[in-house]
Amino acid sequence: MEPIIRTVDLCRDFPSGREVVHALKDVSISIQPGTLTILRGRSGSGKTTLINLLGALDRPTRGEIYLYDQKISDLPEKKRDELRRTNMGFVFQSVALIGLMSAYENVEFVLRVAGYDKKKRKERAEECLEFVGLGNRMNHRPHELSGGEQQRVAIARAIAHRPKVLFADEPTAELDTQMGLQVVKVFRDLVAKEKLTVVMTTHDPNMMELADHVYTLEDGQVIEAI
Ligand SMILES: Nc1ncnc2c1ncn2[C@@H]1O[C@H](COP(=O)(O)OP(=O)(O)O)[C@@H](O)[C@H]1O
Ligand SMILES: [Mg+2]
Repeated sequence: MEPIIRTVDLCRDFPSGREVVHALKDVSISIQPGTLTILRGRSGSGKTTLINLLGALDRPTRGEIYLYDQKISDLPEKKRDELRRTNMGFVFQSVALIGLMSAYENVEFVLRVAGYDKKKRKERAEECLEFVGLGNRMNHRPHELSGGEQQRVAIARAIAHRPKVLFADEPTAELDTQMGLQVVKVFRDLVAKEKLTVVMTTHDPNMMELADHVYTLEDGQVIEAI
């Protein structure tokens, strides 16, 4: 199958004082549509740098990134912003929900910003919260939910606009294994039922068997691809 995202010899350098940190060195990977891919590796191995490039949040120093046939690595910021808003969803390690809003309002709010009409907002927000298993917690505020439940609200919020790819950087890092597995289980369901493509980073070995593909990073390079 044609990959949804493909990188060719991706390099990302960061200036650091008088030195240069080579955070990624010639990374060439393919993400297949409708799969869950894990980028694994120790802290500092380049996972965040890579996922930020795949999600068009950053630009490479050298090398190319393709979304299907479109080369996206050298698009100007405005185009990349549009690409992110239409095609991509993001979940991060620390769940940035709005504390004064209920779970439902947190999801509904992004649909409001995206210009959905009132009826569609309600339908879609409820649908997404049900999808992540929080149909009965919609009116709870974040502080009334567990860490795992909060992360699932963040996932509902990230998929509400129907992105093609969901990027999750260490989404389970602040959760215990049990709650972390629930989060990854939601990703599996999204892949199976919504045909979403999910790319997540983790250093937790417990998550690996839930992935379709695992790329292992070490010192900015891919040392194993499964
Ligand atoms: N903005 C930056 N400026 C300088 N160095 C950076 C920056 N971002 C990341 N790095 C460096 O690049 C390497 C990879 O970092 P990162 O991608 O965050 O790794 P990981 O997510 O696997 O922990 C590290 O050595 C880190 O210090
Ligand atoms: Mg990281």
